[in-house]
Amino acid sequence: MLQPLKIFDNKTELIEYISSLKANDATVGFVPTMGALHQGHLSLVNFGLVDNDFVVVSIFVNPTQFNNAEDLEKYPRTLGRDVKLLQTVSDERIIVYAPSVDDIYEGKTVSERFTFDGLEHEMEGAFRPGHFDGVGTIVKRLLEIVKPEQAYFGEKDFQQLQIVKKMVELHEIPTKIVGCAIYRAEDGLAMSSRNERLKPDYREAAPFIHKILKSAKEKFGTKSAKKVTEWVESQFKKHKLLELEYFLISDIKTLKPVKRKSTKKEYRAFIAVYADDIRLIDNIALN
Ligand code: PAF
Repeated sequence: MLQPLKIFDNKTELIEYISSLKANDATVGFVPTMGALHQGHLSLVNFGLVDNDFVVVSIFVNPTQFNNAEDLEKYPRTLGRDVKLLQTVSDERIIVYAPSVDDIYEGKTVSERFTFDGLEHEMEGAFRPGHFDGVGTIVKRLLEIVKPEQAYFGEKDFQQLQIVKKMVELHEIPTKIVGCAIYRAEDGLAMSSRNERLKPDYREAAPFIHKILKSAKEKFGTKSAKKVTEWVESQFKKHKLLELEYFLISDIKTLKPVKRKSTKKEYRAFIAVYADDIRLIDNIALN
């Protein structure tokens, strides 16, 4: 029989509880999520449990990071199922924080304004205005509430990971940000809460994204970024179901698109694709 794990919807009670754990020298890790949990989230929680005595998992669909009202409305909310899934990992060492919008925003549901040394202007920042102000706002608030030793973020949202690392550095937040490898379904599709909303034919088509990324990586060994980009664009033009929003090869530090390849730099290919009305993102390390 599964025991109920501790669930808080109120930050004051959560802060008190975490203080009581820390008073007994326990270490606390943190995995922020928007719920609709899947194996990718559980892998972050498992990394957290290896490094820390307890892991706080926040489940909060953050309204300020959505630039599309319909996307926010349709975002899956499955708290009961999420808790059951977490219980399969651990009952005693996981603490869930599932706050209301008011508990976080206290009646003022707006983002703070951030600069992240220009990282916020590239890719997702260019296509989703205001998104990273929303992410910065919620992650900063959650880190201030939970005060974890370490917080775990998936590399699927690689730009978000780099931005959170930058925020922690600029705001001198004493949490180590740990990036974790992308968790993929057996057919290669990167795990995402949005996958649940894919209609069957789109779900079947979606692993094409990872297939193309793998081929792009291979081609990047001998071809220029421009040539690889043109090839990727031509592959999506021919595709009947998937619509390419962007494909970019960028320097992992600045996230700026590569102009001339250098052996001294590390690059990743980043992609955003529409599968019907569902927006999917993915990326791959190139060198
Ligand atoms: O990656 C996500 O799920 C969200 O952007 C995060 C980090 C939980 C902030 O709402």
